[in-house]
Amino acid sequence: MNKLDLIKQPSDFLVTLATSEQKVVVKSGESLLSALLRHGIIFPYSCQSGDCGKCKCKLICGDVRLDIYSETALSGMDFKDGYILACRAKLFSDITIVYL
Ligand code: FES
Repeated sequence: MNKLDLIKQPSDFLVTLATSEQKVVVKSGESLLSALLRHGIIFPYSCQSGDCGKCKCKLICGDVRLDIYSETALSGMDFKDGYILACRAKLFSDITIVYL
């Protein structure tokens, strides 16, 4: 990883990928998925609009808000169990996630 990738502004947040301990800067207002892809992280996705569920991952810690998404992509039970959609997630703190 390029050291410049970890330079963050005060309004940016960091996402840590728990399985690899990689850290990625997420810019203010940027979706989690956009940040991961911008940094070259290989991450599952398809629609990028909250409809397919392919970007589902588990939030281990931190605070995110999800933009509108389909219940077929992320059920209420999934959400209660801590799953989020990376394409719909905006960060409100540094976070740690796990994905398959
Ligand atoms: S990429 Fe389809 S729900 Fe996120």
